[in-house]
Amino acid sequence: MVKPDGVQRNLIGDIVARFEQKGFKLVGAKLMTISADLAETHYSEHKERPFFGELVEFITSGPVFAMVWEGENVVASARTMMGKTNPSEALPGTIRGDYGISVGKNIIHGSDSLESASREIGLFFDEKELNSYEKQTEAWIY
Ligand code: TYD
Ligand code: MG
Repeated sequence: MVKPDGVQRNLIGDIVARFEQKGFKLVGAKLMTISADLAETHYSEHKERPFFGELVEFITSGPVFAMVWEGENVVASARTMMGKTNPSEALPGTIRGDYGISVGKNIIHGSDSLESASREIGLFFDEKELNSYEKQTEAWIY
């Protein structure tokens, strides 16, 4: 998910391009504004942490771009592409390393396991918003 800072900074296209070019398949995406309820549920693992209030406030502060990507090892691979949580420690070449400065505004969220991916997809998407399709091998694709 591209967080509000990534949307404000016009990074949706770049981030989508990185995942497309890596070879993953987009199966769902939408621009949406997260409610406080959804934010608190989504980040419930952090509810006792000192930054929880700011985190919820930030993630609800403007639209986010939620995405579902499919492909081999996509959850772990996406975490590698994102870089470390704190952008100041994230390597150049990663999304957070290239575009972020502070941990509170680190551009992108990515599920940290298959279990959280399926939980988060369920929180953010209806079944009918997820597209199951095969890449075609028609003559007009070259
Ligand atoms: P976390 O799940 O630890 O990181 P990640 O997004 O890499 O899975 O934390 C969730 C978000 O909380 C993180 O992206 C930014 C915010 N956060 C802070 O604001 N301060 C902190 O010290 C930490 C660890 C996270
Ligand atoms: Mg996390």
